Amino acid sequence: MKVLVVGSGGREHVICWKLSKSSRVDELYCAPGNGGIASIATCVPIKVTEVDKLVEYAKDQAFDLVFVAPEDPLALGLVDKLEEAGIRAFGPYASAAIIESSKAFSKDLMRKYNIPTAKYELFDDEAKALEYLDSQPMPIVIKCDGLALGKGVIIAQTLEEAKDAVKSMMGDKAFGDAGNTIVIEECMTGPELTILAFADGNVAVPMISSRDHKRVYDHDEGLNTGGMGAVTPGADLDTDDIASIQNKIIQPTIEALKAEGRPFKGVIYFGLMLTPEGAKVVEYNCRFGDPEVQAILPLLETDLMDIIDAVIDGKLSDIEIKWKNKCSCVVVMASGGYPKSYQKGYKISGIDTCGKLVFQAGTALDADGDIVTSGGRVLCVYDEGDTLDEAIDGAYEGVKKISFTDAHYRTDIGRTLGDIGHIKA
Ligand code: AMP
Ligand code: GLY
Repeated sequence: MKVLVVGSGGREHVICWKLSKSSRVDELYCAPGNGGIASIATCVPIKVTEVDKLVEYAKDQAFDLVFVAPEDPLALGLVDKLEEAGIRAFGPYASAAIIESSKAFSKDLMRKYNIPTAKYELFDDEAKALEYLDSQPMPIVIKCDGLALGKGVIIAQTLEEAKDAVKSMMGDKAFGDAGNTIVIEECMTGPELTILAFADGNVAVPMISSRDHKRVYDHDEGLNTGGMGAVTPGADLDTDDIASIQNKIIQPTIEALKAEGRPFKGVIYFGLMLTPEGAKVVEYNCRFGDPEVQAILPLLETDLMDIIDAVIDGKLSDIEIKWKNKCSCVVVMASGGYPKSYQKGYKISGIDTCGKLVFQAGTALDADGDIVTSGGRVLCVYDEGDTLDEAIDGAYEGVKKISFTDAHYRTDIGRTLGDIGHIKA
């Protein structure tokens, strides 16, 4: 098969890496790809939001499958347009990708179908939002409705902070049109957990659980980032916990979307909080999480291509998805300064000799063909083990052998899980 993956991050690197191991994939392309992906796929310089160009290219090259990994092209209807052009595509249609592109839509969906989530109100009028805040307990959470690169969420500790957040989103348009409507919601407490699931429109099959580390510094300090590392499993869940999440959250979401005429086919992301009242949804995403997927896919034993077919053909119930019985960890190495401004173009050494799997994100090849930094999150180092400690120690051994100027990484990935007790091997 001839396959095109759309995207350019660590997520797309691990997807390409997994597909390159499938006996069914003969030719692999990635648009636009990155310095690491270039070693396993042909990189094509088309941006992920150049939807019409991507469709034309896919038609010209007669791809057997296009895997659309990031949220922006999914929200822009790339999968719909590829199918209209007769090209098989993996990922949700725009009508279902709305669960990520509109938080107002997903909150209303959860309310209508009794899916546990924080209590909330929606506002498209700044004055009304400000007045509502006067009657609410603090802390409180203010969110932009639209896509804002993970930055449109403010947890306000005081009424003043909450009002400033509303003014900046609605009045100053700090996040553009993403803040035309805002969600004001109850602040939940408890550990966070990511559950990704394959969904074929009718059923969803959860993958192993994982845990992201969003803040830039150790002990969850500093600004939110795209994610500084991840481990799997993400919590000590027993079969009853998993059944409860499946029955109260995962399957009802798939059924709700189907009932709304928006069947979800692809990978659905459940950002959960394990609150004292049970698991509740913090957010939905319409794709694999990054960096969670870099910790998850290496443990997948089933051929990813077989799962992709089952998802597209609505036949997930017919296949068995197998996982290695191991724990895993990825540690992200970022450019110093990220998530604020940072320098690019530093040479990276040690990737090939560190002895671990490395998934690259913000890297490029310079004029001499050397790998250099080109983004905020530069790469992540993976390892697995029989215990989570083994996996974490292994990933950090790799990190210590890789270097570039001003590299920054957290030293406590997976080490702060004490709040949910023992993690099973
Ligand atoms: P989101 O983009 O909706 O996932 O929000 C980003 C982060 O903000 C989440 O990963 C949580 O850490 C935090 N967050 C979002 N909503 C809430 C909430 N209702 N209560 C507490 N924390 C929240
Ligand atoms: N790791 C969080 C996300 O992919 O949105």
